[in-house]
Amino acid sequence: MKLEEHEFIRYFEPEQAAQISQVAIIKKFNLQDIVFEEGDDSDAIFLVLEGQVKVSKKSGEGNNYVVITSIGSNSFFGELGIINKQPRSARVVASQGTTLAKIYYNHLIDILAETKGDVVLKILSIVPQWLHNVTTKYVNQLAYQEKMTLIGEMVNTIIHDFRSPFTGIQLSSSILKELHPDQESQEWCDLIYMQVQRMLNMAEEVLAFSQGDTKLYSQKVEIGKLLKNFKKLNQVYTDSTFVELIVNVEEGLIINADENKINRALQNLLANSLEAINQNKGKIEIKAQRKDRWVEIIFSDNGYGIPEEIKNNLFEAFVSYGKQGGIGLGTAIVKAIVDAHGGEIFFESTLGKGTTFYLHFPVAKIY
Ligand SMILES: Nc1ncnc2c1ncn2[C@@H]1O[C@H](COP(=O)(O)OP(=O)(O)OP(=O)(O)O)[C@@H](O)[C@H]1O
Ligand SMILES: [Mg+2]
Repeated sequence: MKLEEHEFIRYFEPEQAAQISQVAIIKKFNLQDIVFEEGDDSDAIFLVLEGQVKVSKKSGEGNNYVVITSIGSNSFFGELGIINKQPRSARVVASQGTTLAKIYYNHLIDILAETKGDVVLKILSIVPQWLHNVTTKYVNQLAYQEKMTLIGEMVNTIIHDFRSPFTGIQLSSSILKELHPDQESQEWCDLIYMQVQRMLNMAEEVLAFSQGDTKLYSQKVEIGKLLKNFKKLNQVYTDSTFVELIVNVEEGLIINADENKINRALQNLLANSLEAINQNKGKIEIKAQRKDRWVEIIFSDNGYGIPEEIKNNLFEAFVSYGKQGGIGLGTAIVKAIVDAHGGEIFFESTLGKGTTFYLHFPVAKIY
């Protein structure tokens, strides 16, 4: 956008606006270029003409930064420093190719001196409002990060402490398998072994999520096979809850995916559905079909439905409703997994009737 069209400039009368345009220095920044560092002198205000910058603040020891907010075109930053003359309280980095107009404090003060009182008041009134928004965002971010760190540490301890008893169970099931060659025993022993492995995988997935790690170990995955296996692994559990688990899949649907992660996502959805059915006789149905360029997994239950209060931010971490002990990570992890696969997720839900999640994964190219 042109400098004259910027919201900040438009607060001024035409004469002062022209003066500002004359003294403003237009500068281009590339991705990751630093506009200023925390602690730098505050000598100018910046108007964003194109692109976007990220405001972040040092947190804890070392070079850790918490991103507080992003500022896009037609907005501005750095005004606080020029009002209180304190060093910069945060770092600003370009988060894409960005054009900024830099206006030095001295120039601005000269122009403000000639500006009508009500205009100056209007400009100054923006600052506390802006400060309030940024502070709130910062506090939320910090709280979020602290919770994540705590969860990471907790899960790490669990994994650490449980690894040896888990290995013990797996070994025992292998020995039992050798002692009892009949088919049924073999299947039960395999199931024990797999379930233990799943518990470890689940804990590791939560750990990875809390650390922001979305690395995928992808391979070609046949969704039909994956879903049938998923059903088998959960059958014992769902049978004990009077819930019917139905899997209905088209054959030959192949995606490039990290199988552990897809299983994790389905497991989180299943846990929520079982909680929503809440001991009643219920039905959970998983379908998979080809839809345009996607493989679509449709996951539905006839539980009590997603409460209105959280529908808009369901996929955010720590959003939980009406559950004792719900951390609110389940669907956030599902979304992170779908996103990491280049897919999309959405849902429909009616109170008292049920919920359906739609997961779309890109169809694998077969060469
Ligand atoms: N299938 C569903 N039916 C009804 N409500 C649901 C369903 N799935 C999610 N919800 C609602 O969404 C909230 C958030 O779900 P999410 O899985 O993210 O967290 P949680 O289940 O509360 O906690 P966690 O999964 O971390 O133990 C739940 O507390 C519940 O109120
Ligand atoms: Mg959940």
